[in-house]
Amino acid sequence: MNYGMPDFIGEFWHYYIAIITVISIVGIIWFLKSQTTRKLAAGEQAELMAPTWDGDLQELNNPLPRWWLYMFYFLIVFSIAYLVLYPGLGKFAGSWSWTSADAYQQEKARVDAQFNAQFQPFLGMDLKAVAADPKAREMGERLFMAYCSTCHGTDGKGAKSSRLFPNLTDNEWLFGGGDPEAIKASIAYGRLGEMPALGDAVGGEAGAKELANYVLSLSGKPHDTNLAAAGRAKWAICAGCHGEDGKGNLAISAPDLTDQAWLYSGTESGIMETIVKGRKGGMPAQLEHLGEAKVHLLAGYVLSLSASK
Ligand code: HEC
Ligand code: HEC
Repeated sequence: MNYGMPDFIGEFWHYYIAIITVISIVGIIWFLKSQTTRKLAAGEQAELMAPTWDGDLQELNNPLPRWWLYMFYFLIVFSIAYLVLYPGLGKFAGSWSWTSADAYQQEKARVDAQFNAQFQPFLGMDLKAVAADPKAREMGERLFMAYCSTCHGTDGKGAKSSRLFPNLTDNEWLFGGGDPEAIKASIAYGRLGEMPALGDAVGGEAGAKELANYVLSLSGKPHDTNLAAAGRAKWAICAGCHGEDGKGNLAISAPDLTDQAWLYSGTESGIMETIVKGRKGGMPAQLEHLGEAKVHLLAGYVLSLSASK
């Protein structure tokens, strides 16, 4: 991944910012010097500047105290050194090539090394054993709160709002029918399936209605048998992704349509909408940013949510 300077900072802004920065520093040096060249001659008194405020508050034009002045010069030297070493002068990366992204990665690696030690022992355990282990469950729950609850809810029951997040506490699964390794794969690699809009391919609303009835029949729901038979004849359009038997295809995140798990809708009109308009769900992959040990604990935790039912 490239965390570098965004592309929209083109050459113009690079020079614009760099030149303003340099002019400011030169300007400050000039200003400091202009304020400090005057010294009091022997015996000369500082002048009283008019006016006098609040009765007795007077201002004298003494030169700046030396220590104060040197502090300013020190700060100027510091800022120049900073701009040489660190990014700050337009696009110039600084001679140490420091980036906040690297600093973050290093800090993350340090913290991961420290904490992963406690997750590691569970990696060797079977997922069902992880799900049954109270300590693993407790850790998994904390991880779930941190990384998953924004979408799946703090109780894992999901949400049906503007976006749909499946319930993880029931025994119904979109992918893999509850197989522990499939759950782990859902978490590790995500489920970014896209169901294409097939309204035209199936022959419009009428064809969608037939297929919807066939889909309902797959999971044993009430349906119209004549329509379902007509839908069965068109199933080839769907079989490439959902399988000849409708049990889905994990590799392309096409869900199992033969169980009671529905992400969008298990009604005739809802399934028709899925067929006609298509759907695009999004479970982001977690392996890269969490690492396998945490994914393993999370899979165990998710498994325990439904196993207790
Ligand atoms: C950005 C929202 C989001 C986040 C964060 C997220 N999920 Fe998901 N998750 C989803 C969506 C949406 C689906 C359904 C996938 C689809 O559309 O096909 C899903 C599906 C799943 C499934 C498959 C369920 C099934 O029925 O087969 C599992 C398991 C899962 N998520 C676990 C997790 C865990 C554990 C985490 C935390 C590491 C997590 N998810 C984080 C949105 C999210
Ligand atoms: C190119 C592959 C592909 C084809 C072809 C395809 N689907 Fe899908 N279908 C998917 C994917 C992937 C999803 C999951 C979308 C998501 O997670 O948001 C899906 C989701 C669905 C759902 C939603 C299930 C739920 O839980 O709400 C239904 C119903 C469905 N498909 C039926 C069909 C039917 C009927 C056909 C044939 C007309 C068909 N699909 C053709 C890939 C496909």
